[in-house]
Amino acid sequence: MKIALGCDHGGYELKDGVVNLLAELGHEVVDCGTNSVASVNYPDFAEAVCSQVKGGNCIMGVLICGTGIGMSMAANRHPEIRAALCHEQFSAQMSREHNDANVLCLGARVLGPGLAQEIVRTWLATEFAAGRHLTRIEMFSAMELLNDKK
Ligand code: RB5
Repeated sequence: MKIALGCDHGGYELKDGVVNLLAELGHEVVDCGTNSVASVNYPDFAEAVCSQVKGGNCIMGVLICGTGIGMSMAANRHPEIRAALCHEQFSAQMSREHNDANVLCLGARVLGPGLAQEIVRTWLATEFAAGRHLTRIEMFSAMELLNDKK
């Protein structure tokens, strides 16, 4: 699967481990940066990853900042993006099963690298359950469209 990956300076230290895990799992990574600890603005990297996912070039995306909060806020401003901030595996599983999350947000200052990688592993391994959960996603997606037209 092709997966877009982005981080800011706060997430940079976690990125390599996630890149290695994705490669180990056989995924192709589109690395949208950043590539150092020099200060950058996380919305730029959320935009880059969300564009890859919305445009269909990547099936899913992973965003990492210090807490994951800024990335998730920025990502969820993009239509068609359902970004989930997860600090443990149960939320990661449910964000796929019930919410069909297509972007996973991680906080590098919250998580250790081992837990972050287990969260990514779980998130990618879990399928969307659809059914009543699809109805609910369609409900908020329709609201998103209506709000865009206002
Ligand atoms: C950067 O210092 C930090 O604010 C950012 O990585 C993130 O945690 C924002 O939500």
